[in-house]
Amino acid sequence: MVTATDYLDLLIQRLNDEIPLTWIAPARQILEPDIQPQMSLLDVGCATGYAAKAFPELDYLGVDVEEKYLEIARIHFAKNNRVNFLSHDVLREPIDNRRDIVILNAVLEHCSTLNPAFENVIASTGKVLLIRTFLGESQQIHTVPSPKPAFADKVRKFSNQYAFMDVFRTLERHGFEGTVIRDRYTDSLPRYVDGSMRTFYFVKATRRDSTGDNRS
Ligand SMILES: C[S@@+](CC[C@H](N)C(=O)[O-])C[C@H]1O[C@@H](n2cnc3c(N)ncnc32)[C@H](O)[C@@H]1O
Repeated sequence: MVTATDYLDLLIQRLNDEIPLTWIAPARQILEPDIQPQMSLLDVGCATGYAAKAFPELDYLGVDVEEKYLEIARIHFAKNNRVNFLSHDVLREPIDNRRDIVILNAVLEHCSTLNPAFENVIASTGKVLLIRTFLGESQQIHTVPSPKPAFADKVRKFSNQYAFMDVFRTLERHGFEGTVIRDRYTDSLPRYVDGSMRTFYFVKATRRDSTGDNRS
């Protein structure tokens, strides 16, 4: 099993270009038609902020709840004034000013439920949202002991699958139209993860009225 320390090492290796960026190149490709110079990008659950490197022309804001990740990210990008980081809990509220493009990879499945996290991410999106998470025909809420050894007895880690229908109904309720896109990295094939079969998909969603000025 991957421990929390192993995971931090992995995030640092991605930041330092020591290993391939897996999901990021396909994400950039999916967003290519929407990207214009000077646009703003929000990366929710950014960890060490390594995704910023794939969008060098955009104003990047990475948010996360883990101070340790943010500290590493801030040091790494200290000389890049297009890249900023903020401590923010997406379960609590949307970010203050919507960003044109929002990306959210491998975060939702670890929340206890789809909403309010997903709705807060949608409310933070001005134009285009790209999520990558475990999806299937039905919702499956599943937990395993925390991978952090000190918390293993007390804290559970969620490894949920959400229903396509719930994702698309939530998007529709907030004025977004979405499309499911195959995840090239895993080929959207089921994998055995944390004791369950899980399948990654991208969903790209566009705000119908994409002036991005009002909160939904
Ligand atoms: C599995 S990691 C994915 C990191 C990164 N998005 C990636 O693709 O490599 C999940 C990230 O979401 C962050 N996270 C978890 N709950 C969060 C919350 N409520 N608000 C903001 N970030 C959160 C974690 O700290 C962690 O950095």
